[in-house]
Amino acid sequence: MDKFVITGGTALRGEIPVSGSKNSALPALAAALLTSEPVILKRIPRVRDIRTMQRLLVDIGSRTEVEEETVRLHTPQIVCPEAPYELVKTMRASSLVLGPLVARCGRARVSLPGGCAIGARPINLHIFGLEQLGAHIHQAHGYIEAEAPNGLRGAVVHFDRITVTGTEDLMMAAVLAQGETVLRNAAREPEVANLAELLGKMGARIEGAGTSTIRIQGVEKLTGAEHTIIADRIEAGTFLIAGAITGGDLSITGCNPEHMSALVAKLQQAGVEVTQPDSTSLRVRGNSELRSVDMTTEEYPGFATDLQAQYMALMTQAQGIAIIVETIFENRFMHAQELARMGANIRLDGKQAIVAGPRELTGAGVIASDLRASASLVLAALVARGETVIDRVYHIDRGYEKIESKLARAGAKIRRVE
Ligand code: EPU
Repeated sequence: MDKFVITGGTALRGEIPVSGSKNSALPALAAALLTSEPVILKRIPRVRDIRTMQRLLVDIGSRTEVEEETVRLHTPQIVCPEAPYELVKTMRASSLVLGPLVARCGRARVSLPGGCAIGARPINLHIFGLEQLGAHIHQAHGYIEAEAPNGLRGAVVHFDRITVTGTEDLMMAAVLAQGETVLRNAAREPEVANLAELLGKMGARIEGAGTSTIRIQGVEKLTGAEHTIIADRIEAGTFLIAGAITGGDLSITGCNPEHMSALVAKLQQAGVEVTQPDSTSLRVRGNSELRSVDMTTEEYPGFATDLQAQYMALMTQAQGIAIIVETIFENRFMHAQELARMGANIRLDGKQAIVAGPRELTGAGVIASDLRASASLVLAALVARGETVIDRVYHIDRGYEKIESKLARAGAKIRRVE
């Protein structure tokens, strides 16, 4: 298993380019199942979760061609409408094929995901939504079997709570349903809007994506399309925090600053200088006197749960007490104990983490427990005295493209060892 060896203490300087968004690319790949014509997706990040999704699509019946960041998918026929446990247990977003499969061929068999490091993460809302659209759902042997032999029909689906992939799954199911579907209390994430844009190019009729009410008029058939994935706002945010925590001067290029306003506002309150040199870049200049600022995670446009761990690393270096509240996932503080091993003063109390700073961090051996927790350990290591060895970096490889070379180019002392 690969490890990262990081020697802290260097301020990051220069430019870091942002890759395409993993969480936008995953539903876009699944959407290719909705048509028998080729779909060409650009700016697909080269990360492990994307390779997992491609494997799944090939098993289902897609032919895929990959060239650099462009992926061409062609699914003349659905050969096997199934997402097996072996893949779902490694990547929960595999459930994104459920909606497209039922819509395209009237049936799907998808493994239930099981436990996850950051919380229970059930898919009951995906199932509820599909039932509203007329699918019959049967659960047995750890699998969900959905059937709609006569096709799905439009309905009003009110989500009990906001779910990102649930909204995407249902949107993909509804585009081929008969009549109108209205998704209420839908997720407003930019990734949902980007998926709607792709579906629109394929011939779907969708209004309101990016707001909490999405209206979809079903069509009979979708066509091929070409589409570019949006910038990864979580990767961009991670690098912004890297600039801030190391007291550096870093430009993050190829991003969409509008998608990052919650983080930028927090950083500015904490005393970090963040400017926008142009419409696709942000520049961060660190301040040696960071102030603690409380933060609560929320659905978009609130502060992203996917940046909570990284923000916690930053708060270990800030003057005062920061109360960080995690409202989206019930167990997303696994990084706190590892940060504490490096010298951070963090107390956990249910949904809250109380971080008292500043504390000098020192290099230590730590273990990555999930994707964003790993990113927070990398950030802490960049500012820690001495050497940190992060084990199980396969977690970070799920969602960050070449993070070590991007950081090294900005001056970080980071290397991967086997
Ligand atoms: N939930 C349910 N029932 C459902 C679906 C969700 O109770 O049927 C709950 C979840 O357990 C959670 C909350 O609703 O407590 C929100 O979950 P959501 O469904 O929005 O999460 P997700 O769609 O599974 C996506 C991202 C996550 C990100 C969350 C929240 C993708 C592929 N994944 O997950 O990304 O944290 O939204 O923004 O888009 C990551 O990239 O590291 C990551 C975990």
